[in-house]
Amino acid sequence: MMSAGSFLPLFLSLMDLPMLVVALEKVERSSGTLIGSSIATIQKSAAPEMLLALMDEAYTGSAVEEPSGNSGSDDSGPLDLTDPMFLDLLKDENDGIAAKHWISPTISSTLQAAFNSPQSDRLKQSLEMAPRFLTLYFATALRDVNDSLLCALIPVVMSRYAAMFPDKVFSFKVRERLSDFILAAFQRSPNIIAVLKKPITDRLGEAHDNLAKTELALHLCWAIGEHGAGGVGHKDVARELFENLELLLYENLATSRLGLSQEPGSDSMGASSRKSSQARLLCFVVTAIAKLATCHSELLPRARVSLGRSFPNLRQEGLATGL
Ligand SMILES: *[C@@H]1O[C@H](CO)[C@@H](O)[C@H](O)[C@H]1NC(C)=O
Repeated sequence: MMSAGSFLPLFLSLMDLPMLVVALEKVERSSGTLIGSSIATIQKSAAPEMLLALMDEAYTGSAVEEPSGNSGSDDSGPLDLTDPMFLDLLKDENDGIAAKHWISPTISSTLQAAFNSPQSDRLKQSLEMAPRFLTLYFATALRDVNDSLLCALIPVVMSRYAAMFPDKVFSFKVRERLSDFILAAFQRSPNIIAVLKKPITDRLGEAHDNLAKTELALHLCWAIGEHGAGGVGHKDVARELFENLELLLYENLATSRLGLSQEPGSDSMGASSRKSSQARLLCFVVTAIAKLATCHSELLPRARVSLGRSFPNLRQEGLATGL
């Protein structure tokens, strides 16, 4: 049983469970362990006071006092807990981390530090648990939640596809669950693709930012083609998504021809995986264009032109995806 009001925030708190562990361990490190301590010790510790103040702020809106001039403080004192990211996370662990903090220098340095230091047992357990919770959460969402709530959830899910705790196994598992969910939601209600046209095109526009975003774009392309951009009734949406796919096609061809893999500082391993993911994306884009034109026949002439231009050899041989 989940109310609509707690359903959306729950996603972020499950995603950010490992971050919460990192934040709480930071509190603990600056105050000494609280587990097994006597009440008297806990009462003397600054940590519960800190957490109470944060909860108070969350419920009453009264501001937690931030000691001034603490920016860039070292890792030892309790001061760095007043960092905005930790404040937001700790004052209500049900909210996860606000999107804006994922691009803050604090979070990148925190994640870097967490990434480079040995993981505590608690962190390891949270990295195991969070993907399982997400599986349950998404199963519940697909079974019990109506389309309007799914339409609210999917953009949040997409926004976190490339922003999560940077543990290799964890992020692999989580991404798998996120994309499975998005695809299953589109399968259940193809109409959602039309409703979410804007956030979907935004994500397609970021396809070349990094490998995770390329992967998300690839899934979205597949879904757009498979479900005809929401169905035969959505001609305008189909045309707009078609144009975005064309753009992706031309961009992809341009970058692969220019050989952008020779950026300074990119190792050959990174360059080759980027190349192969771009090639995969190209396949999905071409397939989506062909499928979209099959579902919406008014797009056929245009699909012939754009695919023919991109792959002149294929056209000569009459193999251009059967169009
Ligand atoms: C969808 O579910 C939410 C939460 O249960 C509810 O508030 C909303 O009115 C429902 N929307 C529709 C269109 O049924």
